[in-house]
Amino acid sequence: MKKKVGVLVSGRGSNLQALLDAAKDPAFPAEIALVISNIPDVFALERAAKAGVPTQVIPHKGFPSRETFDAAMDAALRDAGVDFVCLAGFMRLLTKSFVEGWQGRMINIHPSLLPSFKGLHTHERAIEAGVKLHGCSVHLVTPELDDGPLLVQAAVPVLATDTPDTLAARVLEQEHKAYPLALKLLAEGKVTVDGVRAVVDAPGGGALVNPQ
Ligand code: GAR
Repeated sequence: MKKKVGVLVSGRGSNLQALLDAAKDPAFPAEIALVISNIPDVFALERAAKAGVPTQVIPHKGFPSRETFDAAMDAALRDAGVDFVCLAGFMRLLTKSFVEGWQGRMINIHPSLLPSFKGLHTHERAIEAGVKLHGCSVHLVTPELDDGPLLVQAAVPVLATDTPDTLAARVLEQEHKAYPLALKLLAEGKVTVDGVRAVVDAPGGGALVNPQ
């Protein structure tokens, strides 16, 4: 039986779209059962509705604390019978207790080759640092921001002519491959965690390389 996935979003939802598209394949081991946005009227909600996936808006601004906001999301995910949670451009910090409640079952996509460039403005910072390779990472979520065992990483070259926007576009293309792959591996039970490392039973062990 397919695993049920809840996706948390805050915006455009192109990674959500990549997951929705992947899940259309009858052989994909997971289905998107619920999409939750903390921001009303974002495009990600339209994408979910178009795919026939139930959506909920849980506006963080309506809650007195992070704890109560996270508890509302937790209840919605559990009511929907979700097995795994994907953060897809979800731009809120999560409380330790929420994260611990989904330990080993919640993943995030981040637009850098972690542990480099945690946080925001990753493409600007990669260009400023002069790195030759940049990319994206899908990792299990732990209470520390942009930390946690790495499942899949995809690398792209940084070109001398790159602006943050051109680099972001090249990375985003890889995000849309890396995220469905990571969810597939997790839902198929091909990920085991050994301390801070995830051991991924897949060709290449979860590495996607895209030299151009
Ligand atoms: C993506 O690039 C994702 O990696 C990034 O936000 C963008 C969301 O785009 N996530 C983070 O920065 C999380 N710290 P999308 O809404 O089109 O998927």
